[in-house]
Amino acid sequence: YFSLTSDSWTGFIADAQSRLSGSPRLLILALCNIPLIAVALNVLWQLIAPRDPSLPPVVFHWLPFIGSAPSYGNDPLKFFFECREKYGEVFTFILFGRKVTVTLGPKGNNFVLGGKSLSLSAEDAYTHLTTPVFGKDVVYDVPNEVFMEQKKFVKVGLSTENLRAYVGMIDQEVQEFLRRDASFQVFQKNATEEWGSFDVLKVLSEITILTASRTLQGKEIRDSLDKHFADLFSDLDGGFTPINFLFPNLPLESYRKRDVAHAKMSQFYQDILRKRKETGSEYEHDMMAALMNQAYRNGRPLPDHEIAHIMIALLMAGQHTSSATGSWTLLHLAEKPEVADAIYREQVEHFGSGDGHFRTMTYEDIKKLPVLDSIIRETLRLHPPIHSIMRKVREEVIVPPTLSAPSENRTFVVPKGYYVLACPAVAQVDPRIWRNADTWDPTRWSDPEGAAAKAFTEYNDEHGEKVDFGFGLVSKGTDSPYQPFGAGRHRCIGEQFAYLQLGTLIATLIRSLEFRLPGPFPAHNYHTMITLPKDPRIVQYRRRHHD
Ligand code: HEM
Repeated sequence: YFSLTSDSWTGFIADAQSRLSGSPRLLILALCNIPLIAVALNVLWQLIAPRDPSLPPVVFHWLPFIGSAPSYGNDPLKFFFECREKYGEVFTFILFGRKVTVTLGPKGNNFVLGGKSLSLSAEDAYTHLTTPVFGKDVVYDVPNEVFMEQKKFVKVGLSTENLRAYVGMIDQEVQEFLRRDASFQVFQKNATEEWGSFDVLKVLSEITILTASRTLQGKEIRDSLDKHFADLFSDLDGGFTPINFLFPNLPLESYRKRDVAHAKMSQFYQDILRKRKETGSEYEHDMMAALMNQAYRNGRPLPDHEIAHIMIALLMAGQHTSSATGSWTLLHLAEKPEVADAIYREQVEHFGSGDGHFRTMTYEDIKKLPVLDSIIRETLRLHPPIHSIMRKVREEVIVPPTLSAPSENRTFVVPKGYYVLACPAVAQVDPRIWRNADTWDPTRWSDPEGAAAKAFTEYNDEHGEKVDFGFGLVSKGTDSPYQPFGAGRHRCIGEQFAYLQLGTLIATLIRSLEFRLPGPFPAHNYHTMITLPKDPRIVQYRRRHHD
């Protein structure tokens, strides 16, 4: 767009001028200048139009409609920190015609995440993105109270008993992957000093889907992963991007593939459910088995298509979040081998048999490994996979005065039709809260007096305030400066599973391999729904024991 408005655009106008004369020439000139006139009017409007003092300040932008989309889309955190300098903790920016009010800091997060669902709606903000992917009648395609019941059903499938059964399966799956995956063959045949290498996101994505399908998704999905299921997943995933959020329906191939993949995947899960019922097979530990026995409060059983669509939603919710977190963790461990050594020593101390072998961890063991735990916590502090949490305003909301503009004692109102946005990632790296905020330092979590311990207690306090939104009691946690799993009624229910999956797979990898980083540490790529490490993201490895 910029290149059109500068050199090439001026050339085009000059060319048009030379070819035309008289009134057609004037008309063409006026038409050619429409974008420039629109930009000028947009700027003028921002500078001179009378401002409603009850509305949050609007971030200055050159381009009408597009607004601040380029700055926000390229690096939302940089954009938010810069806006905070200029406008304070509450401001509105334009995103392709939408008005998005950002409220920063723990109080800002509390405002959005702790908001009432009648005024701040997640389904209105997300349904156009999620329903074509997940399917009808689940998650954001139903009223909030129905979704809260669906979250309760899912929690049954994430019971402690089920989680216990998963640790050994994940460990086995990772060991098997190391034995057979092409990236890990090179070194096995060669001398001790040779290092192999792999693309960390590619490997972690594969390990994540293998382990999630072996555990939560169930045997049938795991067995079909090597066949057509992986392609279906990839097509569905291609319809879950920021473009799909901004433009729900475009006549593009990716949208068509998304719709075809959804229909096939929904059918695939429903066929599995039918077969399970026909054969009476027992799969006691997976999610489908748990969902098959559920009924809504009014007695209505959960129909097959809803089970299928919840399964797809869980697949999508867990895949990129966990694979991104695993990738960032391994990148940090490769950059700081001394931390990887500390995890290795922790493993040897608790599970080593003295001859280079280890016993399998249990679910209870994982909860007692402070080094392993702290590296996951610290990675989620610096690289929370979801940077923007949005709600659509259904009825106007008042921003608490302490947040609006404390010094001026002004109260802002966010009108109906706006979006509100919380970015816990800003508070998680705010130098006013954290010492050496930008440094990956897992030891901060072992200081009982430090900001990390305080933030974690506020987030997960066993003895603190608890609320039941319809899916069991959860810590309130809405005003903690550490919220990688969100907070309030939309808080993640996959948190325990994610910790278990990540903890087990990292421990299994560290038991077998040493890592190092051959290049610079990758920057964040914000052009995807989930914040990923930019290419190149190569990690080198060497096996600890050689058979
Ligand atoms: C919600 C993060 C893994 C299922 C959320 C939210 C966040 C989040 C920030 C709140 C979204 C909002 O308020 O709009 C993460 C991270 C993960 C992870 C960082 C891993 C490191 C998982 C897994 C599952 C899952 C493995 C499923 C097994 C869900 C569900 C919700 C949710 C069902 C509820 C959405 C809602 O109520 O609107 N997650 N998640 N997540 N997550 Fe996760």
